[in-house]
Amino acid sequence: MITIDRSGCSAFASEAQYQQYIEKAFQGFDTLESEKGAGNDFLGWNRLPSTITSDILAQYKEVVERWNKKDVDLVVVIGIGGSYLGAKAAIAALSHNFALNIGQKGPQVVFAGNNLSEDYMAELMDLMQIKNVAAVVISKSGTTTEPAVAFRLVKQFIEQKYGVKEAAERIVAVTDKARGALKTLSNAEGYTSFVIEDNIGGRYSVLTPVGLLPIALAGFDIDKMVQGAQDMEKICSQRSAENPAIQYAALRNMLYDAGKKTEILVNYNPKLLYVSEWWKQLYGESEGKDGKGIFPASVSNTTDLHSMGQYIQQGERTLFETVLYVRKCNRSLAVPSDKENLDGLNFLAGKRIEECNTSAMLATIMAHIDGGVPQIGIEFDTLDEYHLGGLFYFFEKACGISGYVLGVNPFNQPGVEAYKKNMFALLGKPGYEELAAELKKRL
Ligand code: PA5
Repeated sequence: MITIDRSGCSAFASEAQYQQYIEKAFQGFDTLESEKGAGNDFLGWNRLPSTITSDILAQYKEVVERWNKKDVDLVVVIGIGGSYLGAKAAIAALSHNFALNIGQKGPQVVFAGNNLSEDYMAELMDLMQIKNVAAVVISKSGTTTEPAVAFRLVKQFIEQKYGVKEAAERIVAVTDKARGALKTLSNAEGYTSFVIEDNIGGRYSVLTPVGLLPIALAGFDIDKMVQGAQDMEKICSQRSAENPAIQYAALRNMLYDAGKKTEILVNYNPKLLYVSEWWKQLYGESEGKDGKGIFPASVSNTTDLHSMGQYIQQGERTLFETVLYVRKCNRSLAVPSDKENLDGLNFLAGKRIEECNTSAMLATIMAHIDGGVPQIGIEFDTLDEYHLGGLFYFFEKACGISGYVLGVNPFNQPGVEAYKKNMFALLGKPGYEELAAELKKRL
C-alpha cells in the first residue's frame, strides 16, 4: 500500500550504510514490540487498529445520525495539538478544495480551541449565529487552556440559542475516562462522552474518537479509514527489511547522523497541507528532546518552489526531503489547446495537469539531489479514506521505531509545559504568584 523509494539517498550513503541503519531500525522495532522501552505505558496506539470493531464505530455514527436528524449544518470541533491535528488533516485531505457545498456529504466542520486569537473566536461566533450548530470538545487532560476557553464561549452560545436541555444533545465530549475538568463537566451536564485511553498520547490518537468522530461527522467513511489502518498494522508488524516503517526509520536516522538535521515533508497536492502539520507534531514532539532530533518542516509544491525553492536548492546543506507521492489523482483534467498559442504552451496541450505536476516533482527531486539534498519517497495509490488510514498508522509506527533508534522516549513531551507555566503566571492563576513576580521583572 505504501512504497518507500530510497534511490534519492544513494548519492549520499552507501548500501552498506543503509543496511547498518536497517539493523538499528530492527533494534528500535524490537524495543517497541517488546513494550520494554522508554514510554512503554503509552503504546496503546500500536495494536489499536485491529481492536476497532464495528460496534465502536457505530457509537460515533449514532452521533452523526442524531445531528443529521436535527439538520445540524455546523460542527465546531474544539481541541489543540494531538486533539485536533489528525481530524483536521483527514478532513482537509478528503474535502473539496473550494466550495463548502460541492461534494460535501456532511455538515461544515470547523476547528476552534487551537489558538487564543480573539478575532478568530469572535468570527466563529459570527458563523455560529447563522448556522444550526453542534460541538465536539476534545481534551485528553481536560485542563488545556486554549480549548477550555473556546469551549466556555461555544457552550454558552449553544445554551443560549437552544436552551440547556437541548445543548446537552448538541455537545459531545472526548476526554479521559475518569480525570480532568472536562470529564467532571461532561458528567454534570449529561453529555455523550467518548474516552481517550490512558495509554494513547495526543499525537498518536487520530484513530481514536479524537479523530474518527469529527471525520465521521464531516461525512467521510471511517470504516474504510480503519480498514486501511488495520491493513497497514499487519504490514508494519513484520520484522522485515521490507517493512516500510522500518525502512523510513532507518533512512531518516541515517541521514540525521550524516548531518542532515532538518527533514522537509513535501507534497504536490494542497489537500495534504494539514497531513504535514499533523506529521510535524508527531515527529517534532516525539523526537525533539534531550538536545537531539530532526527538525520537521514542510512545503507544499509547486507553490513553495516559488518561495522556499531557492533555500532548498542552495541554502545550508543540512536538509533532506521526504516526498509524498500520490500515484493516482481523483479527477481528470487536461491542458486545453489554444489556436493562437500566444503563451507558447501548445506543447502541453492535451497533457493531463497531473502529468505536469509529476514532471515538476521529478524535475525538483533531481535538481535537489544535485544540490546536495537527499530524497526519500513515500508513495501511495490515492488520496482516500483507506489510504489515509494506512498513512496515519505507518507514520506513527515509523515514529516509534525512529525515536528509539535516536535514543529518546518517543512518547513523552516534557518540553511543552514550560510555556504553560509562564502563561498561567502572567494570567494570574492562583499558585503561580512567585513565578509571576519573576517574569514581570523581565517584561
Ligand atoms: O500530543 C500531545 O500530547 C499534545 O499535543 C496534546 O494533544 C495537546 O497539548 C492537547 O492536550 P489535551 O488533549 O490534554 O487538551
